[in-house]
Amino acid sequence: MNDVLYRLYNITKDLRHLVLAQIFVKPCFLGLLAIKANSLSNLDVNTHIPIVIGRQMRYEVIGHPLYKEIATFFMDMVNSSHTYATGGTSINELWYDPKRLLEL
Ligand SMILES: *[C@@H]1O[C@H](CO)[C@@H](O)[C@H](O)[C@H]1NC(C)=O
Ligand SMILES: *[C@@H]1O[C@H](CO)[C@@H](O)[C@H](O)[C@H]1NC(C)=O
Repeated sequence: MNDVLYRLYNITKDLRHLVLAQIFVKPCFLGLLAIKANSLSNLDVNTHIPIVIGRQMRYEVIGHPLYKEIATFFMDMVNSSHTYATGGTSINELWYDPKRLLEL
């Protein structure tokens, strides 16, 4: 939703669309990415990837570098420590702590 609303704001320049997009932000998740904490373990993949995509769209529309840093850090973290040989990133739709995979 936030991705679509940022795109809509970019077209309309109506601040209500920008404010509405913020409702779909999840600060407890994005805040940890902003401080570059590896915070993915046990989170649901399918509901958190769109939040980061929305943050990237906010960067593309608003232009604040922090939003790009969040998306870049997220992509680097997923690619470096949460991607399997199959190309997938989850087990049962959750990100697991790579150190705990041997316990499964
Ligand atoms: C925002 O709108 C401008 C002007 O129409 C356009 O050039 C740009 O590609 C748009 N950005 C996004 C991310 O859609
Ligand atoms: C993911 O990591 C591989 C191996 O280091 C690298 O070749 C690739 O460019 C990375 N992809 C992204 C999207 O960062």
